Amino acid sequence: MTKFVLIAALGAIASVSAAGPPAVLLGKAGNYAILSKAGISTVPTSVITGDIGVSPIDSMAITGFSLAEDPPNNASATSSQVTGNVYAANYAMTTPADLTVTIGDMEIAYTDAAGEKGTPDHMNLNDGDLGPNCTRLGPGLYKFASSVKIPTDCNISGNSTDTWIFQMSGDLTMAANKRVTLHGGALASNIFWQVAGFVEVDVGAHMEGILLVKTAAHFRTGSSLNGRILAQTIVTLQSSTVTQPTQPDSGRLLAQTADILV
Ligand SMILES: *[C@@H]1O[C@H](CO)[C@@H](O)[C@H](O)[C@H]1NC(C)=O
Ligand SMILES: *[C@@H]1O[C@H](CO)[C@@H](O)[C@H](O)[C@H]1NC(C)=O
Ligand SMILES: *[C@@H]1O[C@H](CO)[C@@H](O)[C@H](O)[C@H]1NC(C)=O
Ligand SMILES: *[C@@H]1O[C@H](CO)[C@@H](O)[C@H](O)[C@H]1NC(C)=O
Repeated sequence: MTKFVLIAALGAIASVSAAGPPAVLLGKAGNYAILSKAGISTVPTSVITGDIGVSPIDSMAITGFSLAEDPPNNASATSSQVTGNVYAANYAMTTPADLTVTIGDMEIAYTDAAGEKGTPDHMNLNDGDLGPNCTRLGPGLYKFASSVKIPTDCNISGNSTDTWIFQMSGDLTMAANKRVTLHGGALASNIFWQVAGFVEVDVGAHMEGILLVKTAAHFRTGSSLNGRILAQTIVTLQSSTVTQPTQPDSGRLLAQTADILV
C-alpha cells in the first residue's frame, strides 16, 4: 500500500517536465538569505527575512546590525533588521562547524552553477546588455564571456518548474530604480545568477533570484531582492530589503530525482 502510494506520487512528479537546465543544489546554503565569507554590512535600516551568516570571518565583520547575542547558549545572535537568526564563525555550540559545512555547500553550488550545464541556449546574448531582451527572458542557460547589465525593467517569464541559469565571467550590474519582474509562475528559487565578479544592484532597483557570487555583492540605498545572496567576499546593504523565497529550493530537484528513479 505504502509502496503503491509512493510509486504513484513519483509518477505524478515525473510527469512534470520543465524547460531549462538542471537546477543548482544549494545544500545547507539554501537555508540562508545572506551568506558571506568576509562580512555583511548594513546602513540601517535594512529588512532581511531569513537567516544570515558569516564564516570563516567572525561576528566583528557583521556591522550596522546592532547584534544582540542570543542567550542562553550564544550559538546565534539577533538584530531588529533580521527576521531570522544571525550566525558567525566565533559563536558557540555547533555553529562554527555548521557554518563550515554551509560555506562549503555555497562554494560547491557556485562551482556547479559555473560548470557544464549542457549547451547554452543563449551565448553572449546582446553582448551582455539584457535591455533589448527584457521583454521576456524565457527559461534556459544563458552564458556570457563578459559582464552583464540590466539597464531597463526586465521580465523573466516561465512556469513554476522552469529554470534559468545566467553564467557570466564578469560582473552583474542593475541600473537604479529598475525592476526584474517574474511572470507566468516563475519562481526566484529556480533562477540562478553565477557571477565571477561582483554584483551591484543600484539605488531603488529590485532583483529576483539566487545570487551565487565569487566576490562581493553591493545593494545600494533602497534596493531589494527576492532570493538569496551567497557571496564569497563582502555583502554591503544600504537600507535594503532581502527576502528569501518562501517556496522550498527543491521543487525542480524533486522532479529531476523522480525522473531518474522512474
Ligand atoms: C512548464 O512548462 C513546461 C514546458 O516548457 C511543461 O513541460 C511543464 O509541464 C510546465 N509545468 C507546469 C507546472 O506548468
Ligand atoms: C554568553 O555570552 C555572554 C556575554 O559574552 C556571557 O556572559 C555568557 O556566559 C555566555 N553564555 C554561554 C552559555 O556561553
Ligand atoms: C536580443 O536582443 C537583440 C538586440 O535587440 C536581438 O538582436 C536578439 O535577437 C535578441 N535575442 C533574443 C533571443 O530575443
Ligand atoms: C514586461 O511584461 C509586461 C506584461 O507582458 C509588459 O507590459 C512590459 O512592457 C514588459 N516589460 C518590458 C521591459 O518589456
